[in-house]
Amino acid sequence: MHAEYAIIGGTGVYDPAMLQDAERHTIETPYGTAEVTLGTYAGKRVAFMPRHGYKHSVAPHKINYRANIRALKQLGVHTVLATAAVGSLKKELAPGDLVLVNDFLDMTKSRPHTFYEGAPEGVVHIDMTDAYCSRTRGHLAKVAASQNIKVVDGGVYVTTEGPRFETPAEIRLYAAWGGDVVGMTSVPEVILAKEAEMCYATVAMVTNYCTGISAHPLTHQEVVDTMKENVQKIRELFFHAIECDHGERTCACPHALAELGSL
Ligand code: HPA
Repeated sequence: MHAEYAIIGGTGVYDPAMLQDAERHTIETPYGTAEVTLGTYAGKRVAFMPRHGYKHSVAPHKINYRANIRALKQLGVHTVLATAAVGSLKKELAPGDLVLVNDFLDMTKSRPHTFYEGAPEGVVHIDMTDAYCSRTRGHLAKVAASQNIKVVDGGVYVTTEGPRFETPAEIRLYAAWGGDVVGMTSVPEVILAKEAEMCYATVAMVTNYCTGISAHPLTHQEVVDTMKENVQKIRELFFHAIECDHGERTCACPHALAELGSL
């Protein structure tokens, strides 16, 4: 079993459409098991992983992020393209817009954030200057332009603990702090991917305006419906990006653990 690329599907992205010879596998890791579908696209081996399970049965704070990322590492994945449904903190980011996230604020509370909890693995203080791989983001931006897919290049993803939506006061705070979009899953996924020395990028889909900005109360159905209407844009973007990637990892991601020695 082997894959070079992974697509992590968030809310509304549960099927590995476009993969040839797709086969489901359960991967055992030291942190528990992870579900993936392995297949081929344009001659490249791709792992598809539905973050919340194939039926959206795992809440954001209960996702086994370590098992998921470790499973991808064990498969040999070097590049992860993740989707995420997010609320917008700004009028100018409207439902249906895509944002290439370039930084995060972490408001999570109960999730393991590291593979390195002390002996025997050691302790790691991973650098977050370029949390979302800027080389992969640049590649996605270029591919999006070539496909006439509009993306906003750069945005700060506020990760909340969930599973509840935010209060209006929280949303005012996150906007004042410089957040652009709000979701429940990017942290710790992005951190663990960096610890695993993988290139990781997120294309966030704005599915709604956040609480207090939106004219009506939020529902999960609104998130799912907007995602469904627009998901084809993300699929096209990711599969083209995989097809056109030549795998030269000139960024710092492959050496993120240089101080410690690799996983
Ligand atoms: N808040 C948090 N997570 C979300 C939202 C939101 O408004 N929309 C989609 N995921």
